Formats: sequence, structure tokens, C-alpha cells
Amino acid sequence: MAATAASACIKTEVIAAEEGLKTAAQNKGLIYGCAVGGPLLENDPAFADAVIRDAGMLVHEYEMKRKYTQPRPRGYDFSKADRVMEFAKRHSMKTRGHPLVWHAANPEWLIEALGERRPRIEKERLLTEYIGIVGRRYSGRLHSWDVVNEAVNHEEWRGDGMRATSPWYKVFGESYIELAFHAAKEADPNAILFLNDFGVESTVRWNEQRRTAILKLLDRLKAKNVPVEGFGIQGHLYAYNDRFEEDVFANFLRQLEGYGLKLMITELDVRDRGGPPSPAQRDADIAGLTRRFLDVALESRAMLGVLTWGLSDRYSWVSAEPENKWPDGKPARILPLDENLAKKPMWSAIKTAFEQAPAR
Ligand code: XIL
Repeated sequence: MAATAASACIKTEVIAAEEGLKTAAQNKGLIYGCAVGGPLLENDPAFADAVIRDAGMLVHEYEMKRKYTQPRPRGYDFSKADRVMEFAKRHSMKTRGHPLVWHAANPEWLIEALGERRPRIEKERLLTEYIGIVGRRYSGRLHSWDVVNEAVNHEEWRGDGMRATSPWYKVFGESYIELAFHAAKEADPNAILFLNDFGVESTVRWNEQRRTAILKLLDRLKAKNVPVEGFGIQGHLYAYNDRFEEDVFANFLRQLEGYGLKLMITELDVRDRGGPPSPAQRDADIAGLTRRFLDVALESRAMLGVLTWGLSDRYSWVSAEPENKWPDGKPARILPLDENLAKKPMWSAIKTAFEQAPAR
């Protein structure tokens, strides 16, 4: 038994010692990282070693969301978030904060409080006090913060494309965004402050609507000197239900650069639903799209790096939804490593994209 455990341990250490994606990124002055759920790092040593090999940056998959950090009005709990921070520190990884303000993953008490009849100043405190506490607590330790996540929503069919159903928007209109950025700047002047959103890379109409909404929002924020310093492109791609064209995406990146923003791909994964049954074919298609997407992204001098939303198909938020599994029960093949932690063509596509990228 002891011998088996020891050899398993040696085997996983070998994984961690191999050259990983982080090195390919660092060689070009770029960052590669991934989202992780903290318990996986503690409970699955082989997975943790793959993370150590590949990731130069970690972002909490959920532990930094308000539902977890402030489960009760006077009850903050950073213990889970801190464990990921400690793991990152132990392995010399950078960290991102995600997110300070979002319409989702809020504690129930907060949504209720925002909906009650209370003076506006009290509701403002529910927004800015939290940002102050969390921002100061991690000040100096985070590379960047997603200050506001998913501010636009094409599905609400508004002229300005804003997510007006957000509990924050309902109280403050879009001024919640500037309140949040100013509070974040005050709390952690060193972290790069990001607006983060999805559905902005493809040619399909709903992506075009979202790009327009974001650029107009940036016009308004910049006109008021709101300290938005970066734009995070989540990058949840679809290999079989989408249309990616290099020039459309490149044009959007140039428009973002025009605001003087830093850029990052913050949550890359490529869904395989609607694809052929052959896993090898799907892996090849996904690698192809990953490479086309990253070649454009890394061409931008404002691009700081790439994070995938998870590292291995063994654990992915997409497969957590039963309808995304394959009929044979196999998980979606959306991330760089397969469910056995073997490198997929997507892993090589990311590595090559870094190798081919212009150095910063
Ligand atoms: C997801 C997490 O992966 C899940 O574990 C959680 O249940 C829901 O949120 N965009 C985001 C991320 O900004 O925070 C989301 O993460 C995925 C989509």
C-alpha cells in the first residue's frame, strides 16, 4: 500500500516537473493560468500537479464570489478563498480576483436587502463597503480584479444592451458600475481593474450586439473618468454552433485598445456539443478554433495573457450540466487536458499560440 502511494506520488511529481503552458507564455512575457475549485487542489494530487505544471496564474472558480465570501450580513468567510491564495503563493503563481460585482452568485440576504425599501445610501453601502473590505483584504496580492462581471445582456433587447435585470442595475441604474470601479480603485490601487464579459468574439448577430453595447458603455465610462483599466474576454467558445472570423475579432480588439485598456482572455473553453461522435475529431476541431482565436488575441500588444475556465475535462462547469455530457456519459471535451489529465490537441494549440506570439 505504502509502495503504491509512493510511486503514485513520484509519478505526479514528474507531471509537475514537465514544461508547461506557463513557461511557453512566460517566454513571451505573457501569462497562462486557469480557474480552479480549491478543494480539487487538496483532494486530487495528480490534478494539482498538472495545475502546478501549467498555471502561472490562478483564479477562484467560485470561492471569491459574494455568496461564499459573505454568506451572512455580518459574516465574512474568506477561508476557502485563502486556501487557493496560499496554494498559488506556494507555487509562485499570480492570482486574479473574480468578481467583485455580479448579478449572479450573491447571497440571498443581499438580494432581499437590495429589494427592500431602504434609503439609497444604505444600498450604496451594500455595494461599496463590500468592495472596500474585500479589496483591502487582498490589496497588493492580486494581479487584477474583475470589478464588474457581465454588465451587458443582449437577451433583454434594450437599445443600450445593458443588463437591466441585474439586482445592482435595478437599484442604481448603470451608475453601479462607476461606484464599483471607484471603490475598487480606492481599496486596491495596484490591481488592474477589469470589466469582464462573454459573447464578444464571434461574427454571429448576438455577439455583434454585445460588442456594440460594450463599446458604448466604455464611451460613457471613459467620458466620466471611471478607472476601468482592462477588458476581460471570457472566451466561452462553441466549436460547432458559432462563426469565428479573424478580422471581426481583431477589429474589436483594436477598438478596445483605442480606450487604452489592457486585455485578457479570462475564461477560455470550447464546447463540443453538436460535434461528431469521434472524440479525436472533436479534439482536432477544438484545437483548430483555439489556435485561430488565440493567434488573433495574442497579436494584440495589449493582451496580457490567457486563462482557461478549468484545466481538465475531469472537472468542468460545462459537464456539471447533465445536458452537456455525451450520451455515453463521457464529459464534454472543452479544456486543455482530458479526463485522464492527458494533454489534448487543445493543450498543444495553446502552447504553439504562445510560441508563435510576438514577444512583449
Ligand atoms: C461558474 C463556475 O464555474 C461554477 O462552478 C459556478 O457554479 C457558476 O459559475 N462566467 C463566469 C464564471 O464569470 O464566474 C462562471 O463560473 C462561468 C461563466
